[in-house]
Amino acid sequence: MKVLLLKEEEVRSLLTMREAINAVETAYREKGLGRVQMPPKTYLYFHEADGDLRVMPSYIPSLGRAGVKLVNSHPFNPERFGLPTVMAIVVLYEPRDGRPLAVMGGTWLTAVRTGAGSGVATKYLARRGSRSVGVVGAGTQARTQLMAMVEVLNGVSEVRVYDRRTETARAFAEWASRELGLTPRVCESAADCVRGVDVLCTATPARSPIVMAEWVAPGTHINAIGADAPGKQELDPRILKSARVFVDDMEQAVHSGEVNVPIRQGFLRVEEITGEIGEVVAGRKPGRTSDSEVTVYDSTGLAILDLATGELIYRKAVKEGVGTWIEV
Ligand SMILES: NC(=O)c1ccc[n+]([C@@H]2O[C@H](COP(=O)([O-])OP(=O)(O)OC[C@H]3O[C@@H](n4cnc5c(N)ncnc54)[C@H](O)[C@@H]3O)[C@@H](O)[C@H]2O)c1
Repeated sequence: MKVLLLKEEEVRSLLTMREAINAVETAYREKGLGRVQMPPKTYLYFHEADGDLRVMPSYIPSLGRAGVKLVNSHPFNPERFGLPTVMAIVVLYEPRDGRPLAVMGGTWLTAVRTGAGSGVATKYLARRGSRSVGVVGAGTQARTQLMAMVEVLNGVSEVRVYDRRTETARAFAEWASRELGLTPRVCESAADCVRGVDVLCTATPARSPIVMAEWVAPGTHINAIGADAPGKQELDPRILKSARVFVDDMEQAVHSGEVNVPIRQGFLRVEEITGEIGEVVAGRKPGRTSDSEVTVYDSTGLAILDLATGELIYRKAVKEGVGTWIEV
């Protein structure tokens, strides 16, 4: 059996944010139409390391592809081992006969598809004319969040960034200037980063609220992507109580998304969640309904986003002759 092996650097060379946004939008539409298989993520908890490992299978029939992502989240990796917080491998399968087709590095893929998810949510939910962006947490995911905002907003006029480690925020600003031609302002507080921005992206592993309701202006759209495991939360639950909240997957979000803690505490009810982003993309639910409401995209990270992005990479790799075929 021959399998295409794609290294991280090959994945990087093949993947663009624009194409990832299109692939992710298709995946969300298919989910909104009820045409995907995606059993809940399975978690192994490494309590002694404050980390976890997740297995994420999915199948999108219209794409003719199935796949599994294996991914960890270890927030202390950068300082303890100089390793990324999140590292992944994606395996693609041929549904007709169950053959494995490709094994690829999934670390950059994960960051890009997570950014692309926020790109799709922002396209459907942000107020028209949104141009200023705040980024709270300036690590790996933060970069692809900003890359996606550049793709979907009609011109980015201002970028602010806050990280509890100022040197990380500075490195982010330097990267954005070099790679995207933007000049983010490094903020001294989360409040300074949040007040008055049109779109806010939060990408920290926080376990208690770091964005307060009184800082969020009417009409803001928030991409809350950091909370992806039980106990994690970044937003003051009062924001969720009054906003229109769109999760990526209801079951997964209630278990491990931004809404998980307030629901467990009895502050928020499941019925108060407006819907899933896929329902908006599929035209089954309205997204933003006024310029004054706050909208929240609660992203836990779906296996179908990895699959759609992995398939895009695989097709390009085969076409362009990138990667190594290995006998397994
Ligand atoms: N929703 C998804 O699909 C998805 C995908 C990948 C990662 N994640 C999650 O996103 C989070 C960030 O991942 P990453 O890969 O960017 O990690 P990272 O370690 O590269 O970056 C996180 C950054 O947040 C900063 N930070 C931590 N606590 C903070 C606080 N209280 N206030 C301000 N800044 C703070 C850290 O200093 C760090 O720079 C993790 O929780 C990860 O599990 C979610």
